[in-house]
Amino acid sequence: MIPTKRLHVITWGCQMNVYDSGRMADVLAPLGYAPASEPEGADMVILNTCHIRDKAAEKVFSELGRLRVMKEAAGGDMILAVAGCVAQAEGAEILARAPYVDIVLGPQTYHRLPEMVARASRAGNKVIETDFPPEDKFDHLPESTTPQGVTAFLTIQEGCDKFCSFCVVPYTRGAEQSRPAAAILREARHLVSQGAREITLLGQNVNAWHGEAPDGSTWGLGRLLRELAEVPDLLRLRYATSHPRDMDDDLIAVHREVPTLMPFLHLPVQSGSDRMLAAMNRKHTADDYRRIVDRLRDARPDMAMSSDFIVGHPGETEADFEATMTLVRDINFAMAYSFKYSSRPGTPAAGAPVQVPELDKDRRLQALQALLREQQVKFGAGCVGLDLPVLFTGPGRHPGQIAGRSPFLQPVHLPGSANLIGTESLVRIVANHPNSLAGTLVQERRTA
Ligand code: 5AD
Ligand code: SF4
Repeated sequence: MIPTKRLHVITWGCQMNVYDSGRMADVLAPLGYAPASEPEGADMVILNTCHIRDKAAEKVFSELGRLRVMKEAAGGDMILAVAGCVAQAEGAEILARAPYVDIVLGPQTYHRLPEMVARASRAGNKVIETDFPPEDKFDHLPESTTPQGVTAFLTIQEGCDKFCSFCVVPYTRGAEQSRPAAAILREARHLVSQGAREITLLGQNVNAWHGEAPDGSTWGLGRLLRELAEVPDLLRLRYATSHPRDMDDDLIAVHREVPTLMPFLHLPVQSGSDRMLAAMNRKHTADDYRRIVDRLRDARPDMAMSSDFIVGHPGETEADFEATMTLVRDINFAMAYSFKYSSRPGTPAAGAPVQVPELDKDRRLQALQALLREQQVKFGAGCVGLDLPVLFTGPGRHPGQIAGRSPFLQPVHLPGSANLIGTESLVRIVANHPNSLAGTLVQERRTA
C-alpha cells in the first residue's frame, strides 16, 4: 500500500491549464498523491502558470514568496514545482530567483513528472524540463482518475503556428499538434463513463485540428465532432478557442446538422480595423469575420457569439478603435473578453516603434467594455421568458436549488432536486441577473 501524500495544484490562466492541472494530478496519483484543497501542509505544490498578459513573471515570483513561507514552516518538506507557460518562458531564471523551487517544467513535459519527483526528492536536486520532447505526452498519460464532473475539458490540439504579432503562445506551447481521433474518442468515452455529459474540446487553435483518423486518413474538426456526437450519453459538445481562418465549410455545416453541438462560439477577432488586423498578422479582415458570423447564424439562427479583443496594439489610432466599436455593434456579442495590449518580450509587436499611451488604452478599454457589457445584459434579458434546455451541473447556492448551464454558457439557478444533476431539461427563464439566469423547471417537456 502506497502511503498517501497530499498534492495541491494552483491553476492560473486558460481552460487548457485547468485541463493540464487535472492531468498532472492523474500522473502523480499512482505515486500516492491525493488532492489537497490547501497548500498548507501539502507534500507537493504545483503552480501552473500563464504568460499571456500583464506582469506574469512578477505574479509568479510573488506567489512563490508566499509558498516559500509554507515550505519553511514544513521544515522544507514540500516539493515545489512551477509548471505552465511562465515555466516554459523563464526556465532557469525561476531557479536563480527562487532557489527554494524544486522543479520547473514546461507544458509539454508533465508526463515525466513521476521521474522528476524522484530526482527532486534526492536532497538538493533541482529539475528543469522545458524542452519540447520528441515523444507525445498524451501517449504517456494514464486515464484520468479524478472525474471532472458533468462538464469536462478534453485537449485535442495544442500549440500555434499563426504567430500573431502580440502573442507568446507559439513560443510557450510550440508548434500546432493534433491528437489522433481514436485517442480523443477513447478519452471522450472515458469522461462520459465518469459522469461527463458536456465536453469542451480544447486547443489553442482547436478548429485547426487535423488528426489521424482510425482508418489512417486525416479528419478535420467537423468530422471529429460528428463522430463524438455518436458517443452514447454525451449530451453536449463545444470547442474552444478557434481562429477565423480555420472556420471551414464542413465545420459550419456541423453547426447546422448536429444538435449536440451547442449554439455558442468563442471566435476571437481581436480588432475591427483591417489596418490593425494586418499589423497583428491575423490574415483576415473585419468583413471576413462578419461573413463567417453570417454563415454561422444562417446554419444555426440561435448562434451566440463570443470574442476576444485587444485595444492599444502598437500603431492603433482612434479611427482603428472606432472600427472595432463598429464591428461590435454589427455582430452583437453574447459575451466577450477585452484586454489592453500588453507587451510580451520576444514577440514582434513588442519592438514596434509606435506604442499606444497607457491613458489611451485605458479610455478605449472602458468604452469597449461598456458596450460589450450592454450587449451581454441585452442578450441575457432576451432569454427571459424562453424555455431553454439546461444541463444540471451541481447543487445551487441555497438549499433546494440546483445549478446548470444554458446552451449559451450562462449559469442558471433554479429550485430542483439534486437527483437531476447530470440530466438536461427545459427550464423557463424568469430573471436575468448580472452573471446568471434564474429559472423554473418545465416539468412536462423533458429533453433527455
Ligand atoms: N496583450 C493583450 N492581450 C493579449 N492576448 C494575447 N496576447 C495578448 C497580449 N500580448 C489576448 C488575445 C487572445 C487572448 C487569449 O488573450 O485577445 O485571444
Ligand atoms: Fe496567439 Fe494568434 Fe496563435 Fe491565438 S492564433 S494562440 S492569438 S498567435
